[in-house]
Amino acid sequence: MDLHAMDLYIKSLIKEAGHRIRNSFLTDITIESKSNANDLVTNIDKEIEQFFIARIRRDFPGHRIFGEEGFGDDIQSSEGVIWMLDPIDGTMNFVHQKRNFAISLGIFKDGVGQLGYIYDVVNDDLYHGVKGRGAYYNDEQMRPLMETVIAESIVAMNATWAVPNRYLDHEGTLQLIRDVRGMRSYGSAALELAYLASGRVDAYISMRLSPWDIAGGMVIAQEVGAVTTNFKGEPANLLKQDTFIAANPAIHQELLKKYIRLK
Ligand code: IPD
Ligand code: CA
Ligand code: CA
Ligand code: CA
Repeated sequence: MDLHAMDLYIKSLIKEAGHRIRNSFLTDITIESKSNANDLVTNIDKEIEQFFIARIRRDFPGHRIFGEEGFGDDIQSSEGVIWMLDPIDGTMNFVHQKRNFAISLGIFKDGVGQLGYIYDVVNDDLYHGVKGRGAYYNDEQMRPLMETVIAESIVAMNATWAVPNRYLDHEGTLQLIRDVRGMRSYGSAALELAYLASGRVDAYISMRLSPWDIAGGMVIAQEVGAVTTNFKGEPANLLKQDTFIAANPAIHQELLKKYIRLK
């Protein structure tokens, strides 16, 4: 796989998809619920996934596609080249705010991340990473993450995990809120990973994410030295939903040991 040629191809594909999403602001969109009333999907999520899939199938016939809206392949194993695609990450923001959402794409070969992209469509900001060759914010190379401590950290996490819930001891989350400098919730896992890689937050924590939410961001975040695991400290699972933490290496272990307590 010629990573440089693929990188150029993917950047132009993502920019074209972004253009289509921005154009959709001028049309009426159809909004439906999936697993519950707040789990939204629109015709644009579906159309953008289909747009990517048509191009990938035409130009990379041997590759497989793992997409959130289900138009890709049934992925049960990680061999070969897999494009992990979330056509719109942050659909709730897309619907309600018309901003704060992203296209997220990760290209993995035999389970190893090669290329990662997060495109903030409304701001026209592209974050990308190439395995072994660094991570970039538009054309600017991002620097390795700097040493930090919990008391000076900003942690991104959904507020849901600070109220009593089935999965997590929320007292641990409340202690984290007391101990850090600040908490943030942006509503797009992909953007939160882009912000981690660019040093705007120091950790991003979620109880439940899918491979397409994190695949692109993992490649980018790892290139600047971030640690990405599940809550057991194991490498993130790219075949099914799992817990997920991506953090500055200086605080990753402490977050897991002291604050993140699974029930
Ligand atoms: C969601 C967003 C959200 C996260 C959810 C994801 P979607 O993705 O990333 O921030 O908390 O777990 O499912 O459905 O908008 O692509
Ligand atoms: Ca969704
Ligand atoms: Ca998503
Ligand atoms: Ca999505």
